[in-house]
Amino acid sequence: MFIYVKNFNCTLWGARLGWVDGIGDAVEFEGHVRLSCLDGRPVEASPWRFLCPGGGLLDVEVEPARPPSWGLWASRRPGVWRYRELLPAPRGVEPVTLGEGGTPLVPLERVSGEVGARVYGKLEGSNPTGSFKDRGMTVAVTLARSAGARVVLVASTGNTAASAAAYAARAGLEAVVLVPRGAVARGKLAQALLHGAVLVEVEGSFDDALAAVIEAVESGSGLYPLNSFNPWRLEGRKTAAFEVAEALGGRAPDWVVVPVGNAGNIYAIWKGFKELRRHGLIDSLPRMAGVQAAGAAPLARAWELGLEEPVPVERPETVASAIRIGRPVNAPKALRAVRESGGVMTMVSDEEILRAQADLARLEGIAVEPASAAALAGLRRLAREGVVERGETVVLILTGHGLKDPDAAALHPARRLTVTADKAVDAILSIAGSAGLRGARSFQRR
Ligand SMILES: Cc1ncc(COP(=O)(O)O)c(C=O)c1O
Repeated sequence: MFIYVKNFNCTLWGARLGWVDGIGDAVEFEGHVRLSCLDGRPVEASPWRFLCPGGGLLDVEVEPARPPSWGLWASRRPGVWRYRELLPAPRGVEPVTLGEGGTPLVPLERVSGEVGARVYGKLEGSNPTGSFKDRGMTVAVTLARSAGARVVLVASTGNTAASAAAYAARAGLEAVVLVPRGAVARGKLAQALLHGAVLVEVEGSFDDALAAVIEAVESGSGLYPLNSFNPWRLEGRKTAAFEVAEALGGRAPDWVVVPVGNAGNIYAIWKGFKELRRHGLIDSLPRMAGVQAAGAAPLARAWELGLEEPVPVERPETVASAIRIGRPVNAPKALRAVRESGGVMTMVSDEEILRAQADLARLEGIAVEPASAAALAGLRRLAREGVVERGETVVLILTGHGLKDPDAAALHPARRLTVTADKAVDAILSIAGSAGLRGARSFQRR
């Protein structure tokens, strides 16, 4: 069956998105699913609808077929689909899943001691492709397949490409991924290629690549866009909030600190907490803190200046390539999340990001990529400024694994030596000696 979507034009950062008639299959949802523009105007709920008629972002609302409860969810395996009642699940669908979600929430003892708060890290690098992107991808690709898509398309700073490629492979779909040439971490490119995606390297920025995606979709190509202007994808991401509240015993933390690039995640997590409260599953809401890199901080700058609109950055620059974005497509949603929650946007330097990356790795045993480390750098700043107070509970969303970006990992001073095979034992014993191990001398080689 075809769904006939009326032609309309959308303006999204200057791009006009004229939608096309006659694409894709209709989908019946398990609960009652509504789509609306950010100003509340309702729109027909179709998986092929991505933007508001006349321009702007869309939001999804899921009215569950049966009331969600912690008890019901606890009876299922951990993961994104544990929360199925609050997801836009096509009726009777077998999700396209790799077992995403269910990531650890670990106390960060040393960081807590340093900032005087109870700090946890949500290890999103434990997802199947090593980043939080898998949460949204399982939902969006499930919908795309149910709605008759055959080829999915994304622009990416790397992690979305890796995730889209993996989930498309799992679903038997083709994936086309656009990345800014020379600006994506090696691990992420390797993943996209390994999963068989078609890689298009664009001589330009991520923002240029995203504009190309929007234009390609607009042309009526039938490609299914998986970027985060697709509101269906954000639905999967909100499950991080469900997991945090569940792990904290049915409570929200005081603060959730999120690194911000295209600005979908901070909104999705906020939306997740709001839904939990609407369904009586938590009593209070957290404050959302968004962290950007100083060289790519359109939202943090807007926040600092008290502006309603982001301050676009034409040439974003930061070591945290995942958040090297100058025109965040979800800006209105992110600013809404921060304002509604009584939160804050802040920015940190590359030096602060790299120090946080090293400290998480060396003091807490957690390897994250630079974008994720921005969360800790941001918390340090907010604690110094007294915004985050002593004794508060804070969750850092550690969005991607450290192995994604081996070149960034290599920026840190390393303790490393090379020896010939016949000198290896001597080297070990001398290290043991300098570490003050008793016995080290008596085991010395003759
Ligand atoms: C590791 C990592 N952290 C943070 C982000 C930012 O997420 P968002 O674009 O939803 O703000 C990204 C986005 O690519 C990412 O890959």
